[in-house]
Amino acid sequence: MAASTLPQSLPATRVQRGWNFGPGPAMLPDTVVKRAQEALWCFEDTGMGIAEISHRSRRFLELALKLETGVRTLLEIPDSHDVLFIPGGATPHFSLIPLNLALARGTRRATYAITGHWSRLAHREARTLIDATIAIDADHDSDTRAIPELAHWSIDPEAAFLYYTDNESINGVEYPAPPAVRTPPLVSDMTANLFSRPVPIDRFDLIFAGAQKNLGITGLGIVIVRKERLHKAIAGWPSILSYGDWADSRSMHNTPPTLNWYFALLMVEWMEEQGGLPALATRNARKASILYQTIDQSGGFYRNTVSPECRSRMNVPFKLSTPQLTELFLREASQSGLFQLDGHRSVGGCRASIYNAMPEAGIQELCVFMNEFRRHAG
Ligand SMILES: Cc1ncc(COP(=O)(O)O)c(C=O)c1O
Repeated sequence: MAASTLPQSLPATRVQRGWNFGPGPAMLPDTVVKRAQEALWCFEDTGMGIAEISHRSRRFLELALKLETGVRTLLEIPDSHDVLFIPGGATPHFSLIPLNLALARGTRRATYAITGHWSRLAHREARTLIDATIAIDADHDSDTRAIPELAHWSIDPEAAFLYYTDNESINGVEYPAPPAVRTPPLVSDMTANLFSRPVPIDRFDLIFAGAQKNLGITGLGIVIVRKERLHKAIAGWPSILSYGDWADSRSMHNTPPTLNWYFALLMVEWMEEQGGLPALATRNARKASILYQTIDQSGGFYRNTVSPECRSRMNVPFKLSTPQLTELFLREASQSGLFQLDGHRSVGGCRASIYNAMPEAGIQELCVFMNEFRRHAG
């Protein structure tokens, strides 16, 4: 006899879910949450919850294969690149990249483009290990934040890689396209925009991202790395720090965060159902433009100071004129079911994160609220 049986219906939601504009952990599509809810109780016909089955079991290995294949298909990843799933989110790669892509190759040189909080942090971490030069530093709170033209960059041609952050989620700065350099090879933090549009993977030696924006839940990192950049073992180093070792173990160096992998698979399947990355890219561009229009047409009541060509389609920061007005805005928004609109603690103000899972209806509702708030509080 089975130890327990699946309840006929899952517990009804007591509180209605609002629109969640959080930067990550971020909103998940309703269908993904529902499927995960069921799988936590019983995964398909296994009689066990998804968080309770062995990572070495046939069923989990099938899931792992589906996840990798799905990611490869969505992003059109060529055979030249491996896909790794490494626990710990995005931040470990600030150190693992200089270790694996510079020091392990016998060089201490790499160059960094700084356009905001995350690239500055990555550069700071790299400097503890290697001689990381700065190609550009555009992380200034000036009237307009912009990415300087390539002609103004100072790139070390001998560097092991050129590192940049494709989308600065705190400052709302996104590269319209990867920097058009031939050398050094590109390395990018795409935590906050991977899967939001197609990416020319072949132009990169390495791309990494934390999963908590477009690939499920926090605590998992994905790394897409050119195979010829992998080293099996790096003499004198713990194997857990080696991308080559992670590749050899098929991302099972130790027990993987199985639930995170499952969420990632659910997100991959959801993205496929949405029509893949070209369809999501069109939708994301439209969503962002509706929100920027509301900001730009507010007569200065809401202000976004990022240059239009590099405004993020994923994270839209905006400011109101005083801290008191900002506080009132956030309170009333939250009372209206528009959650987590506060800006990052380092910059204040407001920020709407609008990853793939945020539908246009959520943006429309936010814009109606913003216009209404401006009318009564302005
Ligand atoms: C662009 C970017 N890089 C890195 C990180 C850090 O991610 P994690 O907290 O998973 O280390 C974030 C988190 O929001 C981010 O947006």
